[in-house]
Amino acid sequence: MATKNQSLGEFIIENQSDFQYSSGELSRLINSIRLAAKMVNHEVNKAGLVDITGSAGEINTQGEDQQKLDVFANDTFIRTLTNRQIVCGIASEENDDFITIEGERKDHGNKYVVAMDPLDGSSNIDVNVSVGTIFSIYRRVTPVGTPVQLEDFLQPGNMQVAAGYIIYGTSTMLVYTTGNGVNGFTLNPSLGTYYLSHPNMTFPENGTIYSVNEGNYVHFPQGVKDYIKYCQQEESDRPYTSRYIGSLVSDIHRNMIKGGIYMYPKSSKAVDGKLRLLYECNPMAFIAEQAGGKASDGYQRIMDLKPNELHQRVPFFCGSKNMVDKAEEFMSKYPR
Ligand code: AHG
Ligand code: MN
Ligand code: MN
Repeated sequence: MATKNQSLGEFIIENQSDFQYSSGELSRLINSIRLAAKMVNHEVNKAGLVDITGSAGEINTQGEDQQKLDVFANDTFIRTLTNRQIVCGIASEENDDFITIEGERKDHGNKYVVAMDPLDGSSNIDVNVSVGTIFSIYRRVTPVGTPVQLEDFLQPGNMQVAAGYIIYGTSTMLVYTTGNGVNGFTLNPSLGTYYLSHPNMTFPENGTIYSVNEGNYVHFPQGVKDYIKYCQQEESDRPYTSRYIGSLVSDIHRNMIKGGIYMYPKSSKAVDGKLRLLYECNPMAFIAEQAGGKASDGYQRIMDLKPNELHQRVPFFCGSKNMVDKAEEFMSKYPR
């Protein structure tokens, strides 16, 4: 039972039995994430006051310019997750390879792996627009007691045991699922406590918002172009409203509350799209489905894709179920 205004700590204890594994493990996992998120929130809020905006002068594994806050958020999440005895490995957007965590007893005895985008929407930091963090949690498939392997991370999204995001917006929220619906907690910054503000979040079945970087229109597949034209047609509840922040977390968060579709299709410039399967699409897909929405690559369910590399990209269509169904209908008229 989700009771509004309950603190996240109370909520975790009351809902421990929802988690199919040991209750203590779930608490330690979520606790480490909420703690790291508080530290990142504190830093994000100071952007403009301290020397935290702008480029760190490095290029990350995606060939993208790393922002100072990308580096800060990455270090903070890695440090916090490593300190709790729960995670045997971490894959991050900001690291070429996964990180092996041997644990305090140096026995590789921890059971979980985390894939994360420590700072999503980082081009928005310098202009005071919402950014986020995305995380995805799996149980390892290789034996406990041995070093974590690549295959522990390359599990399909349908094997996730928990996933969520933090949005550093007008307020800071932690939204997560362990496979029993989606709940959103808002941080009270003066107390440092998260309270359940959005119990049982659900994607409206229909929506009137479409979110896509329309500047890439000429490069989109014909099915996407046709769907965008459909969104713009004059008809009962159409034309839809166009909203695009350029930060996946913020765009999906808004669409989950209001009803809408988010699209990052492939294009003639980016043949697999831009977003990363492991730490952007799968966790958002898990949240979307748990909230009654849908996530697809345009043709099939995101969470059924078998990843073959850590930083794999995939086209992404996510949001209100009927809207994603409609987009797929347009896509299906053309060969892949
Ligand atoms: P990140 O900041 O982690 O690299 O992610 C940015 C992603 C995503 O958040 C956003 O929806 C998308 O890139 C925006 O891309 P475009 O600028 O190409 O629209
Ligand atoms: Mn991102
Ligand atoms: Mn990022």
